[in-house]
Amino acid sequence: MSRIYNFKENINEEELKNIANILKEGGIVVFPTETVYGIGADATNDKAVEKIFKAKGRPQDNPLIVHISNYDMLKSVAKNINNIEKKLMDKFWPGPLTIILKSNNKVADSVTAGLDTVGVRMPSNDIALKIIEASNRPIAAPSANVSGRPSGTKIEDIYSELKDRIDLFVDGGPTDIGIESTVVKVENNTAIILRPGKISLEDIQELGINAKLDKHIFADVKKNEKVESPGMKHRHYAPNTQTILIEYAEDKIMVDKVDKYINNNKNLNIAVVCFDEHAKYYQNKNIKIIKMGSIKDPLQISKNIFSILRYIDKLELDVCLIEGINKDHIGTAIENRLIRACEYNIL
Ligand code: TXA
Ligand code: MG
Repeated sequence: MSRIYNFKENINEEELKNIANILKEGGIVVFPTETVYGIGADATNDKAVEKIFKAKGRPQDNPLIVHISNYDMLKSVAKNINNIEKKLMDKFWPGPLTIILKSNNKVADSVTAGLDTVGVRMPSNDIALKIIEASNRPIAAPSANVSGRPSGTKIEDIYSELKDRIDLFVDGGPTDIGIESTVVKVENNTAIILRPGKISLEDIQELGINAKLDKHIFADVKKNEKVESPGMKHRHYAPNTQTILIEYAEDKIMVDKVDKYINNNKNLNIAVVCFDEHAKYYQNKNIKIIKMGSIKDPLQISKNIFSILRYIDKLELDVCLIEGINKDHIGTAIENRLIRACEYNIL
């Protein structure tokens, strides 16, 4: 049996059965979703879920998202769903939205990390839905990466990082959105975004729902600070290379900052990750230029960003400067990942 199934063109039914059997028997499988790849296990099997934590080196206090393919499965994991939560599901499922719900204690304790809530999402990726459906159980799945590293958006990156720790890899090509789902929790009739994603604050407000960003989204979380989502306090998305975020501003201000940094550090091997439109300003400066996408197309940038963060480490740089993005709509999510990737190092 090959360890990588190729589902890029079509889903092979025989192989789909094998995947379902591996999951039913407590194995772990890397599979695509519309956001990033996940490492999936039967959410009701404690031993299987433990394997995910081990493969990722994930802290035990960071709970996993449970993926479902239909509303019967939802009933099997969560209870007391209110009108706002229902409205969010109706509008955004299947899709890149995770909702923190009251757990009915049917999933393994390790999934919820002992919390009385559970994060649930119904993905829209066809391969993901078919895998959940075929295994006929809720599937716990964190992003497919070693803990702290950028999330995996294509199988080549993921395979080289997780190789022997996974029973089977399913290749569905590069993921569409490229950053993880929006995580939202409804409290006092307000939807609080704990992790921004493609589904934005503005998208939720458009439904007439009160919504706000959690205060930790752009803030450095102190070690013992209490947070709504344990994932907020762990090191995240960081390349091994030193990275510095250039705060989003008018073209000239950003470009001047980069220029000044280059001039003050002539002995260093530097790269800049920039908007396509800015590349021309950095030519002939003896630095490496990595284009992240057009300033007019943030969705393209979100699709590229994690593989760029991995690519940086292959260049043997001293420093990589990364241009920041405007913090609205999906830009909120991209900037949230970049700030963390740069470990709050901002120019
Ligand atoms: O797009 C995604 O959501 C991807 C794909 C695979 O579905 N999954 C993903 O999972 O990003 P992970 O484990 O990398 O991130 C889960 C986030 C973490 O920040 C975690 O702290 C938060 O969701 N989370 C999970 N359950 C929670 C809960 N009960 N309360 C608060 N936060 C929770
Ligand atoms: Mg993750």
